[in-house]
Amino acid sequence: MSPVTHDEAALARVFELLTQTHGVALRDPSAPSWMRERIASRLSELAAEAGEPLGTFVDGLSGQHPALTAISRELCVGETSFYRDPAQWASLASQMEVWGQSSRVFGLSTGCSTGQEAWTLRAGLAVSAPNSAVHVLGTDIQAASIETARAAFYDAADVARLPTAWRQQFVEQDDRMQPSQDLRRGVTFAVRDVLDGAPPGRYQVILCRNLLIYLGDKAVRDVVASLLRALTDDGLLVVARSDLGRLRAMGFRPAPDVIAAFSASD
Ligand SMILES: C[S@@+](CC[C@H](N)C(=O)[O-])C[C@H]1O[C@@H](n2cnc3c(N)ncnc32)[C@H](O)[C@@H]1O
Repeated sequence: MSPVTHDEAALARVFELLTQTHGVALRDPSAPSWMRERIASRLSELAAEAGEPLGTFVDGLSGQHPALTAISRELCVGETSFYRDPAQWASLASQMEVWGQSSRVFGLSTGCSTGQEAWTLRAGLAVSAPNSAVHVLGTDIQAASIETARAAFYDAADVARLPTAWRQQFVEQDDRMQPSQDLRRGVTFAVRDVLDGAPPGRYQVILCRNLLIYLGDKAVRDVVASLLRALTDDGLLVVARSDLGRLRAMGFRPAPDVIAAFSASD
């Protein structure tokens, strides 16, 4: 084990700075051990590069210090794309048609990063649930990501990942792609920590993909239970495939038909 993992005070200070200024959800002790170890070892390298003892190096860090930006980037917290995991979206599209028989469909994308996931969901529902009043709420702990999601200017290459009918819900604007006015009317974004549970409301679909990896076991249990409670009776919580093994081991049973999904009855 790296010696710095024993410097809990320094680590706690860096967790605090990363949480405040870079949106990395490191509410100790909810941070999983892989993240603690990665941060500790990177911190040790950065202190050595600066030629300072770890404690002195950490004392000199402020929120905007390049070392913190480097660490938060390394954790890849904002990585996302349109239609990420195409097979999962394809399995969800069939279910969207079922929800489209209701007069309204509410969706939530937690940890939506810069918005691609929320806009993907909205575009899919526009195609599969054309007669329903649709609303998608995208939330993330990082205010800067939420601003980008609201502005909604995307690279054409990223939007091109969408199936054709979904892609047609976007328009070209100044060499970039933007959601159409119709899509925009059905999407809002808010800064929110998933550890505080789902925003008020009942949702047919809650996406919580590639976020649980940043949380420790207790936080994952609490978050999943609280998101399941926010589902409608026919609703689904959709996680990343990589989360499946961990959730199964915790006793959550996946629903059939949609990849890596859980229903309210679980
Ligand atoms: C790797 S991205 C995943 C984005 C998208 N869900 C996807 O799968 O493409 C993880 C996102 O979760 C957000 N996040 C991490 N911890 C969070 C928390 N406690 N509450 C809300 N968002 C969080 C990060 O800010 C980041 O934008």
